[in-house]
Amino acid sequence: MRIARNIPELRVLLKTLRKQGGRIGFVPTMGYLHEGHASLIQHCRARCDSVVASIFVNPTQFGPDEDLNHYPHDLDRDQALCLNQGVTILFIPEATELYTTGFSTFIDPGPMGQVLCGSYRPGHFRGVATVVAKLFSIVQPDLAFFGQKDLQQAAILRRMVWDLNLPIELVVAPTIREHDGLAMSSRNAYLSIGERMRALCISRALAAATNAFQKGVRSATELVDTAKSLLGDLDELQYCELVDALTMDTIEGQVKRLAGLCVAGKIGRARLIDNVLLSEAADPTRLLSLVAIPD
Ligand code: PAJ
Repeated sequence: MRIARNIPELRVLLKTLRKQGGRIGFVPTMGYLHEGHASLIQHCRARCDSVVASIFVNPTQFGPDEDLNHYPHDLDRDQALCLNQGVTILFIPEATELYTTGFSTFIDPGPMGQVLCGSYRPGHFRGVATVVAKLFSIVQPDLAFFGQKDLQQAAILRRMVWDLNLPIELVVAPTIREHDGLAMSSRNAYLSIGERMRALCISRALAAATNAFQKGVRSATELVDTAKSLLGDLDELQYCELVDALTMDTIEGQVKRLAGLCVAGKIGRARLIDNVLLSEAADPTRLLSLVAIPD
């Protein structure tokens, strides 16, 4: 594994890779890596000849009162994980290099960036879209891999790839969970043992709604209410909404197309998000990927 700490170093390594031919896959992260990130690297390895991963805690996607300065980090452990997982190039840039003095160009994801997490984290998805567009432009991957865990992020980035005609295949991979159902997240590190127990209400609520869906319930209100009734252990429920998984439009009435039941809430100082897809398709996560490259 080669490590690039700045853009010129990365360009040199990428040039050599490109000369070898083959598909370059990209897995962007903010570090403090866990099995969710590892699974993206594995999906990338399965589809590509080389894997570029990045670790960058992107300041523009954090609000002023958020956890930018406390975001968990352990670079040694992250590097070991990337090495073990077979990453070809690990890119670890500094904020001053990605955001040089006078930086002023942002990607606005439009209305999709303003609902759900966007309404609790104003500007968050503008920061995400901007940094991912920058990383895409620097790495120029053939494929890029994202987790279903961040369903709204995946939807916004899929739209961005399409809208900006980026020649990248965007792949969305399933959420990896702890043995008891808690979705893996770098922010789980904020939870005390008691909070960790209470956090389980999220995956239980989503499992109950999935169960109801499998038993034939199609009413959006009923599915949402089933989940909401189990979310009482959260300190703050921010949202529990059923949305079209591709557009993030709220689903009212009956579930017909690929639906995402999305939850966000706070436990202690951790803000946690999770979702499930409600669909009759055998492998609904696959439907989230953007396979056709826009002309
Ligand atoms: P981060 O939270 O580090 O997540 C990096 C990638 O890992 C994202 O695509 C996310 O959806 C995926 N991921 C996180 N937890 C997962 C889980 N339990 N199972 C499967 N995949 C999981 O998301 C970001 O960073 C940033 O917003 C980023 C895209 C890097 C832009 O800064």
